[in-house]
Amino acid sequence: MGHIDSESPVEQGNNLYRMVTDKIKYNARDIKLELDWFNKILKKRSSLNTDKTGGHSNVYHLEPPEFDPSIPSDYSLFIEKHGLGFDERFALVLALIPHVRPELLDIFMQKNKATQRVYTQFGGTTGKHHIGYLPTGETAMYILAGSDTEIRFSLCRLFDIDHVFYKENVLWLEEVDKGEPYLSGALTISREIIDLFTIGEIRKPNFSSEFPAKLLSTQMEWEDLVLHPNTEKHIEEIEIWLEHHNTLMNEWGMGKKLKPGYKVLFYGPPGTGKTLTATLIGKKTGKDVYKIDLSAIVSKFIGETEKNLAKIFDRAENKDWILFFDEADALFGKRTSVNDAHDKYANQEVSYLLQRIEDYAGLVILASNMKDNIDDAFTRRFQGMAHFPMPNPEQRFSLWEKGFSQASQLEEKRYLRQLADNYELSGGSIMNVVQYSSLMSLKRGTTTIYKEDLLDGIKKEYHKAKRTL
Ligand SMILES: Nc1ncnc2c1ncn2[C@@H]1O[C@H](COP(=O)(O)OP(=O)(O)OP(=O)(O)O)[C@@H](O)[C@H]1O
Ligand SMILES: [Mg+2]
Repeated sequence: MGHIDSESPVEQGNNLYRMVTDKIKYNARDIKLELDWFNKILKKRSSLNTDKTGGHSNVYHLEPPEFDPSIPSDYSLFIEKHGLGFDERFALVLALIPHVRPELLDIFMQKNKATQRVYTQFGGTTGKHHIGYLPTGETAMYILAGSDTEIRFSLCRLFDIDHVFYKENVLWLEEVDKGEPYLSGALTISREIIDLFTIGEIRKPNFSSEFPAKLLSTQMEWEDLVLHPNTEKHIEEIEIWLEHHNTLMNEWGMGKKLKPGYKVLFYGPPGTGKTLTATLIGKKTGKDVYKIDLSAIVSKFIGETEKNLAKIFDRAENKDWILFFDEADALFGKRTSVNDAHDKYANQEVSYLLQRIEDYAGLVILASNMKDNIDDAFTRRFQGMAHFPMPNPEQRFSLWEKGFSQASQLEEKRYLRQLADNYELSGGSIMNVVQYSSLMSLKRGTTTIYKEDLLDGIKKEYHKAKRTL
């Protein structure tokens, strides 16, 4: 076999496949150990209940398994990274069981003959779709503490807000109704952590009514962006903040004096590159940009809005996401008088959202077509206001020049200068014309872009904006 300098695409693909399956293999290996350990604890607990004479009086002598350090799994790395001990590991595996081996918990569904109900001390709840048993905080208490009140009290710290489980959105107890014991909330593990412990990757969340945010991406590059120099300056400030805010807040100790995060308003007419710029800032700095469409949230998710927004912020908080709020005027618009129930609700959500945005430690970009519609009370709190004006002839020329495919050529190159000078179009409109005229060329079976198609495309854009040529 010859010497291989660089891997062929097939080999790269194979390696990638092997990496993915290896991750699954090692996670499965370690989770199995953890499940075996869980089972031992469970057995011990039930023997403690029936036979009080056994040597140990609690379950803590059953040491958690040790993992193979030479080929670690995502699971074992996570345990090590956070220095998780007995109680934490137990809570993790208990929360994981409904997802990986649900039948293990079936024993908790047996009924107390005397009351014809499930045993109170087991806790547990049922799902809408899941037919098995779902553990609650009480379930964890029962298995680890039994009736030992001291152990029970010390376990409560697992669900404290300064515990890594809560802070990093790993595991929590679901909210319960007013007046009910909080330990009767379902013990829930985040979707991302399940993914990490099983397939070994963190999947990006998808847009849904539960998670009304969408990951933005683009094939375009920073060089494709054509901005007014003033806009560029604002963008540069954002980049400086992204690069240095950790040093400023921590090493320079300014975290005590400055508000967390950076909030900036992008305002300007449609199609001037607000969304594109936000997307490219993420691409350039290696951060995910999530777009939240405020008008959709306010109208469709009324009542659920607060919960859905909370979900986004909870997830975003530790991941350093850039949050991009489109159509910000929907929520930040000048407050109208409270006319009906709908308005009243909206105002309540506004206050909630504002508070979360204010507390958010990362970059928040709000986009709007009309700056004047945004209440001064909000704009005062922004660290930056970047205006995205309509492009001038010079910028339009750049946009035209960069717009077309390398595979095509123009009927007359000089013509672009005329187009740029004569037609006041946004970047978005220019790209629409580029698309239209390119498709017309393809239809004609040629790679040449014709003047007449360009003009037709421009006419269509003017028509949309109710302008005449
Ligand atoms: N300044 C620009 N530089 C390069 N391309 C641009 C620019 N502005 C717009 N475009 C092109 O137009 C498309 C649409 O722009 P974008 O969606 O960013 O506009 P927007 O300002 O967010 O508009 P809206 O206010 O309607 O949301 C971009 O994907 C890009 O192809
Ligand atoms: Mg946009």
